[in-house]
Amino acid sequence: MRTFGLARTPRLLFGAGEIVRLGECLVGLGAHDVLVVISPSAVADPETRDGIMRVIREAGVGASYVRYDALPGTLDPFEPGEGCCAEASPDVVDAIVADATSARSGGRPEAIVAIGGGSAIDTGKALSAAFLEDGSITDYLEGVGTRTPSGRKLPFVAVPTTAGTGSEATKNAVLSRPGFKKSLRHDRYVADIALIDPRLQLSCPRSQTAASGLDAITQLLEAYVSLTANPVTDALALDGLRAAGRSFLPAVDRGESDVEARADMAYAACLSGICLANAGLGTVHGLAGAAGARSSVPHGVFCGTLLPHVVERTVAALSGHPEAHGTLRKLAAAGWALCGRESGFSGGSLEDQHRMLVGRLAELARVAALPRLAGYGIDEALARQIAEAGDNKQNPHQFDVDERYELLLRAL
Ligand SMILES: [Fe+2]
Repeated sequence: MRTFGLARTPRLLFGAGEIVRLGECLVGLGAHDVLVVISPSAVADPETRDGIMRVIREAGVGASYVRYDALPGTLDPFEPGEGCCAEASPDVVDAIVADATSARSGGRPEAIVAIGGGSAIDTGKALSAAFLEDGSITDYLEGVGTRTPSGRKLPFVAVPTTAGTGSEATKNAVLSRPGFKKSLRHDRYVADIALIDPRLQLSCPRSQTAASGLDAITQLLEAYVSLTANPVTDALALDGLRAAGRSFLPAVDRGESDVEARADMAYAACLSGICLANAGLGTVHGLAGAAGARSSVPHGVFCGTLLPHVVERTVAALSGHPEAHGTLRKLAAAGWALCGRESGFSGGSLEDQHRMLVGRLAELARVAALPRLAGYGIDEALARQIAEAGDNKQNPHQFDVDERYELLLRAL
C-alpha cells in the first residue's frame, strides 16, 4: 500500500432532526454571540428559520442573522440568464464583515453558522476567516490576492440544505466575481462541525436537487479514479456512489417527502467533499472553474452535462494500456455502484461495464432534464477559451487543449 494521508474533517452530526443540537454545538465551541448566514430560499419556511434561531437562543447563545437573498445563486439553476452564477462573492463577505463589526461597535462575533447551499456555506467559511484578517478577503484569494491566509478563524458550523458541493467537509471557499472564480484555502478552514439534517433538504427544489446531486456524483467519481486517490478515499467514494446511485432519482422525483433519499444524497455529498479534499478531482472540475468564471452556467449543470463525455473519452484513452487496468476496473466498479449492483455482478466484459457506467451517467443527466451548455451562452469560441484556461486536475488521462475543446463541443 502506498504512502498517504488524510486531512482533517469536521466533527460530523448527521441525521433527521439533528438541527435541534445546533445550540449545544455552539455552547460546546464556547460561543456566546454568533452570526448566522442563512439562505431564505434554502430555508424558505419562516417557521423553520425561526425555529433554528430559537434553538440557538434557547441554548443561551446570542444570535443575529444575515439574510442571503441579496446574493446570486438563489435563483433557479435551470433558468439561464443574469445572476445565475451560484458562487459566493468576496464583496458580500467584505460587506457582511463591515456591517457585523459596526453593529458590535468594532467587535466581532464569536462563531459563524452558515445554513444553506454551497454558496452560503462558502460565504460562512470565508467569513470565519475574514473577521481575523486585515483588509479585503480578495487579498487572500489564490491567484488573485497578494497576501497569505494566516489560518486563523472563528469557530464555524456548516449546515447544508442542499446535497452537492460537499463544502461542509472541505478546507476551501470558492468566491467569484465576473471574470474570476478563486479559492480561499487553508488546512484550518475546515468547518469545526458539519451538522447535516436531511429534513432541512426536503424543500430544496427539483432543479437544484438535480444540479447539486450531479455535482456530488461528479466529485465522487473524479476523486475515485483520481491519480492521487488513496485507500480511504476509494472506500468513501465508492460508498458515496452507491448511495447516490440508489437515491439520486428518488430525491429528484419526490424529494419533498422522501427523507431516506435526501439522507442518502446528503451522505453522498458530504463524502464527496472529504474525497475531493484528499484525492483531488478530474477534467470536469478542471474545466468547471474556467466555465464558471466566463459564463452563468451553474456548477452542477456544467458538471452533470460534461461528465458522461469525459468518462467515455477517458475510458477510450486508457483502454489497451496495461498500466491503466486498475483504473479501468475502478471505472467498472463505479458503474456497478451507480447502477445499484454488487461488485460481484457478472456484467460481461470490462467494455460492457464501462458502457453501463457511461449509459447510467447519461441517463441521470437526461432524467434530470439538464439544459445544454449553449443555453448559458457557451458557444464554440467560448468553449475554446474554457478549454485553454482549464486543466485536467488529477484525471487519469490528461487531455490536451484540442481534446478538451472537443469534449466541450459535445456538451453544447
Ligand atoms: Fe463540484
